[in-house]
Amino acid sequence: MKPEHDFVELSAAGTKPRIPGTKAIAILSGLLLAGVLASCVSINRVVMAPPQIPGATYIGSESCNQCHEDITTKFSFASHARLQAPGENAANVGCESCHGPGSLHSESGGAYNTIVNPKRSPEACFQCHLDKRGEFHLPHSHPVLAGQMSCGDCHDPHSGSAIGGGGTSLMSENESCLQCHAAQRGPHVFEHEAVREGCTLCHNPHGSVNPKMLAQRNANLCLKCHFQEIGAGITVGGFPHSLNMQRGTCWTSGCHEAVHGSQVSTSLRF
Ligand code: HEC
Ligand code: HEC
Ligand code: HEC
Ligand code: HEC
Ligand code: HEC
Ligand code: HEC
Ligand code: HEC
Repeated sequence: MKPEHDFVELSAAGTKPRIPGTKAIAILSGLLLAGVLASCVSINRVVMAPPQIPGATYIGSESCNQCHEDITTKFSFASHARLQAPGENAANVGCESCHGPGSLHSESGGAYNTIVNPKRSPEACFQCHLDKRGEFHLPHSHPVLAGQMSCGDCHDPHSGSAIGGGGTSLMSENESCLQCHAAQRGPHVFEHEAVREGCTLCHNPHGSVNPKMLAQRNANLCLKCHFQEIGAGITVGGFPHSLNMQRGTCWTSGCHEAVHGSQVSTSLRF
């Protein structure tokens, strides 16, 4: 899902504002230019505040370069690099859209507490990704709001796609999960092909109403691929499989407990 609000983006050349027509546009309030406002009145617009730092002003991503070159050089291809302030000569506020205005930080040579670090709080991200706050408030979620982990544990904000594996290779998205969930890694003698397709096939990574952050709480989670199991005629140990399926979820104790893969059971039972 796209963020609640969109930004005015500049083209790669950095000259002309590219305004996504159908989406709501959010504009860093401090940088909002009246002229731009007038030129996009037809678009549903939400203005919201970037992280505030009392007394500080925006200096643009370029100026971070002198001290954080390692980050600024790889940033040009990052998902968020295109975030720009509107206007002909506006600064590229990419860095500061998450870190807040950088003048005091820069002038002080990087003194402590002069800049926002979203590692300590996801609020900087929620400004634009408001729907994510809701997802993390669901009954079963990764403990980001509790401060035990951060958005940055799964999303690299500084280079490439913010979604692991560029959003294309699910294998490397899995890799980001497996660094903390080693038990699901395998290798398993009997792999479950579904896992290769991606952890997020079955788990909502931010949060879910269902235990274990499952995308669905019942057999439907499995039946979207194993729809043939509904059909008549399949027996397990002489009994119709459909009877088993009424007993509980497919991964109920005694059934397919080893849903991520098994060392001993072809039918992923343990
Ligand atoms: C004059 C040098 C200088 C400039 C310019 C500068 N920084 Fe820093 N920055 C530092 C130093 C020094 C530190 C502390 C040591 C470190 O973490 O590298 C730091 C730390 C940080 C941190 C971590 C702070 C924390 O509390 O964890 C962030 C985030 C940051 N800078 C972002 C930026 C951004 C964004 C810009 C541009 C708007 C910028 N910096 C410009 C020198 C600078
Ligand atoms: C999408 C939001 C976002 C943008 C845009 C962004 N950062 Fe960050 N930045 C983060 C997060 C999140 C962290 C904490 C990473 C973590 O959890 O380890 C961070 C950490 C940092 C740090 C602390 C050192 C470190 O590596 O942990 C520095 C310095 C920094 N960023 C500089 C920059 C600069 C310079 C830019 C622009 C070129 C930039 N950031 C753009 C989100 C962002
Ligand atoms: C100033 C607004 C803003 C802030 C702050 C912001 N984002 Fe984003 N984010 C966006 C926009 C706009 C997009 C869509 C970019 C696109 O489609 O090219 C986006 C896209 C993303 C994506 C999808 C990337 C992709 O390649 O599809 C992720 C993941 C993401 N943001 C995570 C974060 C995290 C984590 C933070 C906080 C560290 C954060 N964002 C802070 C505006 C923001
Ligand atoms: C446990 C890992 C994990 C954490 C922590 C996490 N994300 Fe994500 N996020 C993902 C994965 C994986 C995707 C890819 C979407 C999918 O396949 O469902 C994603 C997708 C996204 C997207 C783009 C698609 C969408 O749903 O809009 C945004 C934006 C995003 N995350 C923001 C955030 C923010 C903000 C935080 C912190 C508050 C965060 N994420 C924390 C794993 C995580
Ligand atoms: C930085 C470490 C980290 C990463 C990366 C991570 N997780 Fe987690 N995960 C956790 C923590 C911590 C918990 C909470 C454990 C607890 O409450 O006992 C958790 C809980 C879970 C749970 C629920 C477990 C339960 O017993 O209720 C599932 C499912 C899960 N994660 C899946 C994923 C998926 C899928 C990904 C990748 C998109 C992922 N995790 C990435 C740290 C991580
Ligand atoms: C085919 C669906 C499916 C896929 C794909 C999948 N899981 Fe799961 N996962 C489940 C089910 C179902 C459970 C609940 C098992 C239970 O309650 O006994 C679960 C439970 C978990 C748990 C909690 C473990 C525990 O012992 O309670 C973690 C952590 C987890 N999965 C991580 C992952 C990771 C990481 C991936 C990707 C490598 C992944 N899952 C892929 C279906 C799946
Ligand atoms: C993305 C599709 C997909 C999903 C979702 C999925 N599976 Fe699978 N599963 C497969 C594929 C593909 C195979 C290997 C081919 C086959 O045997 O059908 C497989 C194999 C199996 C096997 C081994 C069958 C055998 O006799 O060799 C079991 C058991 C199984 N899955 C159970 C489950 C359970 C339980 C769930 C839900 C938690 C689930 N699957 C969800 C795709 C999926």
